[in-house]
Amino acid sequence: MIIGVLKESGTENRVSLLPGEVLVIKKMGVEVIVEKSAGVNAYATDKDYESAGAKTAERSVVISSADMLLSVNPPVKDNIKTFREGQIICSVLNPQENSRWIEEARLQGLTILALDLIPRTTRAQSMDILSSMATVSGYKAVLEAASMLPKFFPMFMSAAGTIKPAKVLILGAGVAGLQAIAIARKLGAQVEVFDVRSAVKEEVKSLGGKFIEVEGAKEDAAAGGYAVEQTEEFKKKQQDLIQQRAIASDVVIATAQIPGKKAPVLLLKETVGSMKPGSVIIDLAASTGGNCELTQNGKTIIVNGVHIVGKSDYPADMPSDASKMFGCNIINLLKIMVEKDGKLNLNMQDNIINGTTAVHSKEYVSMRVKQMLNIQ
Ligand code: NAI
Repeated sequence: MIIGVLKESGTENRVSLLPGEVLVIKKMGVEVIVEKSAGVNAYATDKDYESAGAKTAERSVVISSADMLLSVNPPVKDNIKTFREGQIICSVLNPQENSRWIEEARLQGLTILALDLIPRTTRAQSMDILSSMATVSGYKAVLEAASMLPKFFPMFMSAAGTIKPAKVLILGAGVAGLQAIAIARKLGAQVEVFDVRSAVKEEVKSLGGKFIEVEGAKEDAAAGGYAVEQTEEFKKKQQDLIQQRAIASDVVIATAQIPGKKAPVLLLKETVGSMKPGSVIIDLAASTGGNCELTQNGKTIIVNGVHIVGKSDYPADMPSDASKMFGCNIINLLKIMVEKDGKLNLNMQDNIINGTTAVHSKEYVSMRVKQMLNIQ
């Protein structure tokens, strides 16, 4: 098999495979061809790739020679006809945003592997790109908040007196939220946390955060560990309690998501209006509507002296380690698809491969993609 690595476009600095991971893939008996300057924004040169045993070439050559094309974001800007029937494209897919492109890819006979659909199971944990990227986001969000805040994070005792530690409120204790708790605590802040899943209570406590429980949260075992939409009564109760805690906080890191749905609105306009001037809100849920009513995706705005950062693409700002984690996750996925002689075996009986395959042989495969795109 030949794997092709495509260069990303726009503000994306990551690359799907770094030279270090090329070395590992070559040992699996797979050839690698990388688009020229694909790794430049992640500090990997063409020479680094060539030293690792990859070829480098123009995009058109990579596309025409590879059996499987890797990219962080789907190559939606290329004419779909440039790809050939039976070719595999493996990237983060965002099915709802790219539904038209997926349909074109299906009609063209491409196989699309969606890295954001890898099942959240123990066996698939080492392939879980969403977790890797959420780890980066949680880390960067806290560092950004700390650098924007006009105060210290830790308690300071100096000759000038004692400075109290910053108060950080974290909304949503999934992978990003838990990482944010750990980093905020390491920087010396006091941390309070909201989530609707009771299972995270112990994890929050073990990281040194205080879990604020709102009674009556709806949980559904069938949601596979994810949160579900809450009742109107619960939402009101939660918004009121969050308002009280946000007013007392210096920083809010908002990470709450419901898969396939708009992010829950947890911080109302009135809440922001009552927060201390100089406070910082980092809304990682910005791309799905934001947890704060005022968030604007991709923008930082100031309302009543409160900075609201609407940013969901922190991994692109930390391209070296984000690309490293991305590539390691891909290698672990390839391990269940590549046989000893380097040949690909897409075994659709395997629940990870089946769950990750959006389209194959001109059919929709993944149940989640079908649900997201309302396909019968
Ligand atoms: P996510 O990005 O979908 O959501 C982030 C957090 O927001 C979640 O903890 C969710 O409960 C919370 N949330 C949603 N609505 C909320 C509301 N109204 N108020 C407060 N919080 C709210 O979650 P993520 O980070 O993708 O992980 C979710 C879960 O998936 C994990 O905790 C775990 O159970 C599971 N998981 C399993 C993995 C595996 O076994 N391979 C890997 C990663 C996650």
